[in-house]
Amino acid sequence: MANKSKFQAIRGTRDLLPPETALWNRVEETARHVFAAFGFGEIRPPILEPTELFARAVGSDTDIVSKEMYTFEDRDESSTSLRPEATASVCRAYIEHGMQQLPLPVKLYYIGPMFRRERPQKGRYRQFYQIGAEVLGGTDAPAIDAEVIEMVMTFFDRLALPGVQLDINSIGHAADNCRQGYIATLKSALEKVKDKLGADSQRRIETNPLRVLDSKLEHEQSIIETLPRIADHLCEDCKAHYAAVKHQLEMRGVLYRENWRLVRGLDYYMRTTFEITAQGLGSQNAVCGGGRYDGLVELLGGPPTKGIGFAIGEDRLILSLQEAGKVAAQAGRDVYIAWMGEHAHATAIRAAKDLRSAGFSVELPPVEQKFGKALERASKLNSRYALILGDNEVAEGSWTLKTLADGSQQKFTEPELLDFLGR
Ligand code: HAM
Repeated sequence: MANKSKFQAIRGTRDLLPPETALWNRVEETARHVFAAFGFGEIRPPILEPTELFARAVGSDTDIVSKEMYTFEDRDESSTSLRPEATASVCRAYIEHGMQQLPLPVKLYYIGPMFRRERPQKGRYRQFYQIGAEVLGGTDAPAIDAEVIEMVMTFFDRLALPGVQLDINSIGHAADNCRQGYIATLKSALEKVKDKLGADSQRRIETNPLRVLDSKLEHEQSIIETLPRIADHLCEDCKAHYAAVKHQLEMRGVLYRENWRLVRGLDYYMRTTFEITAQGLGSQNAVCGGGRYDGLVELLGGPPTKGIGFAIGEDRLILSLQEAGKVAAQAGRDVYIAWMGEHAHATAIRAAKDLRSAGFSVELPPVEQKFGKALERASKLNSRYALILGDNEVAEGSWTLKTLADGSQQKFTEPELLDFLGR
């Protein structure tokens, strides 16, 4: 017996359907438009990459790499993964195509699906979409950090995303007189309060003490507030860079909040880190994360290279816009052609072709319908006009156009009709 069990989308994945996809398209068009205005070009890296690329770039001890990647042995026995993020891919492409030869910095953006095997919930999926941008090569001038942040804020502003909040921090660089020194200080402070912390945080004291600062556990908050802060342990260069980034943001009128607990969950970051939250998202309220990653290209086998970028969670961005009532209307039709009779069908086909090439959206029923039925369907499809073509109308060369909103009718010859609709 045939197996009749129904198929369903895999847990954590979903179908995006009309009319919602119209909103996705509007968001993506706006991104392309805004990013182009800042001089960014699009890159489309593959979805499959060598597992080792992410292990090295994102870090093999991070949650993303150690627990959440979709990894398989390809037939030639090389370990391959669905990308959990795209910064590593963009850096690989930068090296592979010798982009350091191009005028620097190279400014690239991408839009596409990412995959992480996380526990699905509102705003968290296993296949989700990111809109990201990276600036590679050239200098680490603080104006670059600020301009990248200005660009993403301009994009959110263009979409009228509600309740946007930008948090920034500097996590310094990996040296004893900077972040490493801070981590050692933080670790010893954490060991003193270890008993008051939960199991996850206790484990992180050993594996990654910075991540303790990320904890959302209620009872840990007052303890975390007493811990040493990185701003007091940055080296002189990192301190000056951070101060200059803040100044550059102010020059651009970008409002920010400093958040010393913002550490991010990927290993490649240094100096500037930032996160943007928006309204209506519950606990998964980060719509964008990013930061500077000087040295990543080198770590992947390329030349010493400065880098900074961000990625927006498009699913969350859409959710926030929807919660704010910015829902795309069901796309209607300009003209529904209600035809009856063999002659009329031939004329209707021609009329549909002419109207479509003039840029109108046209619904042409495949089989004859009674006029009453046709008009009913025309209004269900949210059509603006019904073009009525019976054999009489065709013989007379005089077509009837009905405006569905008020039921009024007008008669036109074919050229008059195009002229009228075009107005
Ligand atoms: P990330 O913080 O891991 O950074 O992800 C960026 C954004 O992607 C998050 O703020 C969130 O909006 C969205 N996101 C992440 N995981 C999920 C999920 N499971 N479901 C829905 N949305 C999600 C990066 O990926 C870095 N590559 C960003 C970057 C680019 N840094 C420098 N350049």
